[in-house]
Amino acid sequence: MPSGESFFITTPIFYVNDVPHIGHAYTEVAADVLARWHRQAGDDTWLLTGTDEHGQKILRTAVANGVEPKQWADKLVDSAWLPLLETIDIANDDFIRTTEPRHEDAVALFLQKLYDDGFIYAGEYEGYYCVGCEEYKQLDELDTPTEGEYAGQLVCRIHSRPVEILKEKNYFFRMSQFTDALLDLYETQPDFVQPESVRNEIVQFVRQGLSDLSISRSSFDWGIKVPWDPSHVVYVWFDALLNYVTAVGYGTDDEQFARRWPAYHLVGKDIARFHAVIWPAMLMAAGLPVPRKVFGHGWLLVGGEKMSKSKLTGIAPQQITDTFGSDAFRYYFLRAITFGQDGSFSWEDLSARYQAELANGFGNLASRVIAMVGRYYDGALPAPAGYTDADLAIQRVVAKAAADADDAIERFAINEAIAAIWTIVDELNGYITEQEPWVLAKDEATRARLGTVLYTASEGLRALATLLAPIMPIATGKLWAALAGEGHGPLAEQGVREAGTWGVLQPGSAVSPLEPLFPRIEDVADTGAA
Ligand code: MSP
Repeated sequence: MPSGESFFITTPIFYVNDVPHIGHAYTEVAADVLARWHRQAGDDTWLLTGTDEHGQKILRTAVANGVEPKQWADKLVDSAWLPLLETIDIANDDFIRTTEPRHEDAVALFLQKLYDDGFIYAGEYEGYYCVGCEEYKQLDELDTPTEGEYAGQLVCRIHSRPVEILKEKNYFFRMSQFTDALLDLYETQPDFVQPESVRNEIVQFVRQGLSDLSISRSSFDWGIKVPWDPSHVVYVWFDALLNYVTAVGYGTDDEQFARRWPAYHLVGKDIARFHAVIWPAMLMAAGLPVPRKVFGHGWLLVGGEKMSKSKLTGIAPQQITDTFGSDAFRYYFLRAITFGQDGSFSWEDLSARYQAELANGFGNLASRVIAMVGRYYDGALPAPAGYTDADLAIQRVVAKAAADADDAIERFAINEAIAAIWTIVDELNGYITEQEPWVLAKDEATRARLGTVLYTASEGLRALATLLAPIMPIATGKLWAALAGEGHGPLAEQGVREAGTWGVLQPGSAVSPLEPLFPRIEDVADTGAA
C-alpha cells in the first residue's frame, strides 16, 4: 500500500461479562502490531478497540452478582479491560463502550434510517437461542450429548451449554434481500474475507440463501431502545457491529467518518460470520461502503479445545507478562502461530522460544555488538571502509527482509513477517562468528576491517530495531536508545518501508551501554506460571 494512505483497523469489542484471557489479548496484539507497522510507515492509522456491554449475557452476569448492568460494566472496564491494554502494550487510538451516548445515539439514527427506508418490519420468531453466543441457532449447529450434566439436551457446539427456546415478536432486518449482493462482493473482492478457509465457509453459508434477521428483543430491557418502539431493545450484535462506524463519527462527524471508513476488521473465526455477512448487509442497506477486509484468525487451544473462561481453561495475560514481559508475549503468540490457523499454547514452548530466540538469538547479538563498539571504539560508531562480499551479503539480507516483511504485513501474515525479519538475526549471528571481530581487535593492521564489521553489525541492529518496533516496542526502544545517538531521530520515525536502505547510522555517533534486553528467567516453575 502506498505510504500516507488511511489504515483503520479494529478488534472485536469484548463482552464485559468476564475478565480477559490470552485469547482476547491475542486479537489485541495482532491488531496493534498491524497498526504500529502502518503508523511507522507513515500511513494515516487508527486503531479502535472497546467493549460490548449490552444484551442478555451481561444482564444475567450483573444480576447474578447483585448489581445493575451498567455498574457491572463500569467495574469490569476499569478493573480488567482497560488495564489489559497496558499489560500487553496496546497503542490504541480510541476505546469505545457501547453504553456511551456517542454510540447509542448513532445506533438509533442508523436503525431509524433503515426503518424509514423499508428494511425493517415487525414479525414473530421462534428458535433455539444460545446466550453465550447471543445468537439463534439452527439444529445442525447443536449437539445432543449422551452423557454428562446436559445429557439428552440440545447444547451449543461452541459453549457446550444448553440452548433456550425463545418465541418473540421482533423487528426483522430484510437480510435475505442481500444474498446476491453479498455473493457478488465475495466474488469481485476475493480478499474481502480471509483466510481462504474462513472465506469458503462464509461463501458456502450464504449460497444456501439468507433468512431475515431478528434485530430486537422485548423480553428484557438491557440495550438501546428501538427509536419508534421503546418496548424493544436492539439485538446486541446489531448494536455491537455498529461500534465500528459510531466510533469514527457516523452521523455526527462526516469529516472524520470520510477520513477513516472503511475499516479492516480483525476477528476470531467464530465471529467471522457476523462480520462478513450481517455487517456488510447492514452497511449496504444504509448505503455505506462495506469494510475493506474481514480477517478471521484462529483460536488459541488448551488441551485441544478453544480456550475459554466458561470452560475454565482461561489463562490471564498477566500470568505470562509478569514472568516474560509484554514484548515476549507479543512476540511469542504472533511468531509461534500461523496467523489464521489455530495454535496450542504451552509454557514449555514459550519458555524455549524466549531463551533460544529472544535471549540468545536477538538479545545476545545486540549486547555483544554494542559492547564491542564500546570496548574497541570508546562508544563512537566506527566508519565502514570498503565492503567485502560478506558485508554486502548482510546488506542484501536486510533489504530482502524489510521488503518481505512489508509484503507479509500487507497480507496480514504476521508470523511470516517476523520470520522474514528474523533472517537478519540469524545471518548477523553467523557473520559475527565468521568475522571474529575480537580477533581483528588484537591487531592494529586490521583496525579498518574491524570498523567495517562493527558498522555492518550495527546497521543490521538498526534495521532490526526499526522492523521489530511494532512487535516489541520496549526492547527495541532500549536498543534504539543505546545504538542511535543524537541526530537519528526517534525510533517511531524510522520508516519501516525504508528500513532496508543501508547506511542510516552516522559514523562517529555515540553508542551507549545496553542492559540485557531479555534477562534470564531462572525457573518458570518457581513463578507459579507452569
Ligand atoms: N462481543 C463479541 C464481539 C462483538 S464485535 C462487534 C464477542 N466478544 S468476546 O469477548 O466473546 O470475544 C471477542 C474475541 O475474542 C473474538 O474474536 C473471539 O474469537 C476471541 N477469542 C475468544 N476466545 C479465543 C481463543 N481461545 N482464541 C483466540 N481468540 C479467542 O464475541
